[in-house]
Formats: sequence, C-alpha cells, structure tokens
Amino acid sequence: MSKRRRLIVGNWKMYGRLTSGLVLARDLAEMAQKHKPLDFDMVICPPATLTWAISEAIAGAPLMLGAQDCHTATHGAYTGDLSAAQFADLGCRYIILGHSERRSAHGETNEIVAQKIEAAQLAGLTAILCVGETAEQLASGTTADIIANQVRASLPEKCRMANLVVAYEPIWAIGSGQQPSPSDVVAVNKVIRKALGEAGETMQILYGGSVSPVNAGNIMAEPEVDGVLVGSASINADGFWAIAEKSR
Ligand code: PGA
Repeated sequence: MSKRRRLIVGNWKMYGRLTSGLVLARDLAEMAQKHKPLDFDMVICPPATLTWAISEAIAGAPLMLGAQDCHTATHGAYTGDLSAAQFADLGCRYIILGHSERRSAHGETNEIVAQKIEAAQLAGLTAILCVGETAEQLASGTTADIIANQVRASLPEKCRMANLVVAYEPIWAIGSGQQPSPSDVVAVNKVIRKALGEAGETMQILYGGSVSPVNAGNIMAEPEVDGVLVGSASINADGFWAIAEKSR
C-alpha cells in the first residue's frame, strides 16, 4: 500500500449530457456516501456544461469535482474560454491540465501548460499535470528523458507543489487497450518524482491510459502508484467504483 493517500480521477472528456451526466454523478455520490469514510479520494471531471448541475447534485457526498482545462488568464476577452477561477466558483477542487488530447489537438506547449497550472493554483485548484510519451518515443527508448523534460518544462516558476498532482499517461496507452507493465509504470513514476525535486516523495503520481476494473488492481498493487486517471471506464458508475476499490 502506498504511504500517500490514493486519488482516483475520472476524466469524462466530451461525454455526458445533462440527464446522463446527472445520473452518473448521483450514482457515484450514492456509492461514495454509502462507503464513507473512504480511504481514497475520488474526483470526477465532467464536461464544463455539467459542472454546476453536478456540483449541486453531489454536495455533501465524499466525492470531489474537477475540470478538464482552463484558460491561462483569470478573465478577459477570450470568447468561448473558461477560467480556473470560474471553475473554482462552481465547486471544483481539481483541474486536469496538459492532457495529451489538448497538447495535440489544441497545440498546447509545455509553456502554455505551465501558465495554466499557475492560473489554476492561483484560483485555489489542484492541478493534475498530464505527461506521456508517444509510441515512437517509447520505441526509441527515450521515455525517461521525454517525461523528465515534460515535467520540468510544464511547471510554473512558482509552483505550489502541495497543489500539484502528476499523471503519467503514455499517449499510446490512451483509449487503446494497451498499457505499460506495472514495473515500467513504477520506473517512470520514479523519474517523475526525481524531476519534481524535494517535494517528489510526498506528491501523488497517478497512472492513466486504458485503466479498467480488470487491470486497475495490478497497477495499484504497486505502492509507487498513488492512484489512477481514468477515461472511458469512468463513465460507468459500477466500473469506476470497482476501479476505486482496487486502490485498497
Ligand atoms: P482512457 O483515457 O482511460 O480512456 O484510456 C485516459 C485519459 O485520457 O485520461
């Protein structure tokens, strides 16, 4: 068992409409309520359109709310964007930043991710920084260098380490059904801890990429892994809860 508290995060991506999202959130809130006190933390990150409704629906349950992205600024003339402060207003405590889908589809560089982390922490949110290598980088044996560099370059100068979680998400493992071995995850987590410096030992480092109720136990059997960031398997209440139970 990890000496750090485990964190189970659901990234709903662009899935869920008002009715289905509320049903899913209420089901999870009910399960969490029934099992409290929990010996892990659980966070759901629904699409921004559902944040407020879900915030109200899960109020009082041991289930926290997160966002999936934010702008680098607190406010301004940025049509269509949302700020970290706006998510904090709605009850969010966490925010996923630098997800590979944002890095690739929205051109987010490490520098932009660092600015977003700074904005998120200023708003009082804990940032979940995602890092991961491509299949080509894995094949060329450069994973450790790539990850260490991504971590260092994605941190703002005045990063509050107490409000930062890192998720190792190999890009080739996201939505693919493929995964690194638990020992490979452990090796990369150690690289991440080292890149984080002194605070590294106390920080939560998650694994993400095709996590399911079937494989979550193997991954979290490693004390080095402080939890999981779950995509597709997080939009099913029973499945997501089953994953969380594997953190024990
Ligand atoms: P997946 O997604 O669990 O569907 O692979 C993980 C993620 O993108 O965070």
